[in-house]
Amino acid sequence: MITIIGAGKVGGDAALFSAIKQLDDQILLLDIAEGLPQGEAMDINHMLSEQGIDVEIKGSNNYEDMKGSKIVVVVAGAGRKPGMTRMDLLKINAGVVKDVVGNIKKYADDSLIIPVTNPLDPMAYITFKTSDFEKSRVFGMGGMLDLSRFKQFIHEETNSSRKEINALVIGEHGENMLPLTRLAKISGKPLPEIISQEKLDNIFTLTKNVAAEVIKLKGATVHAPGNAISAMIDNVVNDKKQVMPVSTYLDGEYGFSDVSIGVPAILGKNGVEKIIELELNDNEKDWFEKGVKSVKDAISGINV
Ligand code: NAI
Repeated sequence: MITIIGAGKVGGDAALFSAIKQLDDQILLLDIAEGLPQGEAMDINHMLSEQGIDVEIKGSNNYEDMKGSKIVVVVAGAGRKPGMTRMDLLKINAGVVKDVVGNIKKYADDSLIIPVTNPLDPMAYITFKTSDFEKSRVFGMGGMLDLSRFKQFIHEETNSSRKEINALVIGEHGENMLPLTRLAKISGKPLPEIISQEKLDNIFTLTKNVAAEVIKLKGATVHAPGNAISAMIDNVVNDKKQVMPVSTYLDGEYGFSDVSIGVPAILGKNGVEKIIELELNDNEKDWFEKGVKSVKDAISGINV
């Protein structure tokens, strides 16, 4: 069973994508709001029924129902309102995440946890520390969403097929994210050999700012994060061992410790199987370090 805690916009969408991709035959939506997870489950089940997909979605307000879950997605908490940064959400959501992780420990102590609640990297750190799970079992979703946006801008700039784009976004899921324009490739050809530095810089900036634009236009980001969560679950349950950016605890990797931040990692059935350490240039190292500092500042202000 896959459990998604937080049956709001992103949690509901993650359940929908996971069901369509048939990532498990049972998906549980858990939320404190009475009626919401049940209604969401009914709505998705009706869609699955027409599609002839035998995945059961269940909605619940009772944590006990998550017993036996292999994967738990934590997407409960407040979202960003227009003009708010992810860090504004820190204090509110730290309390929510600690409460949720306490329940995961109680009812799904063998699970893998995918934190999603923002600000993502501090929440991944709190989840790791509060759960006391091995670090490989806690890996947050943020970089996969940033990557979806980065790929879209590369696609728009080059007109190439989205399938041919190979790229990564690492670092903080926030103001200091690091879309790796230098290392991106289209059909094996380095992106810097295809477009000018000015265009690369433009894509870098657009990728950083586009979330705020979507929030301004439609109030929240929903489908891209919902899908990104399901892509990570797919990688795990099908033991695909694809490299994906995940927010996970560093113990010396990239020169940093005692922080959770986005790094490329091989994901498989046991969670993070290996963190890939890329050779960053000085400018990239600066962005990565700024992200680490921002996450460390955030977590120093809360009791973990
Ligand atoms: P939403 O407001 O639609 O849903 C949040 C749900 O969490 C609500 O249904 C609420 O009842 C529930 N909730 C609150 N406290 C809870 C608790 N203690 N236990 C169980 N459920 C609880 O928000 P939305 O848009 O779905 O976003 C959820 C979170 O995901 C936000 O923090 C948002 O910033 C974050 N997010 C993260 C992304 C990422 O890339 N990491 C991307 C998009 C959103």
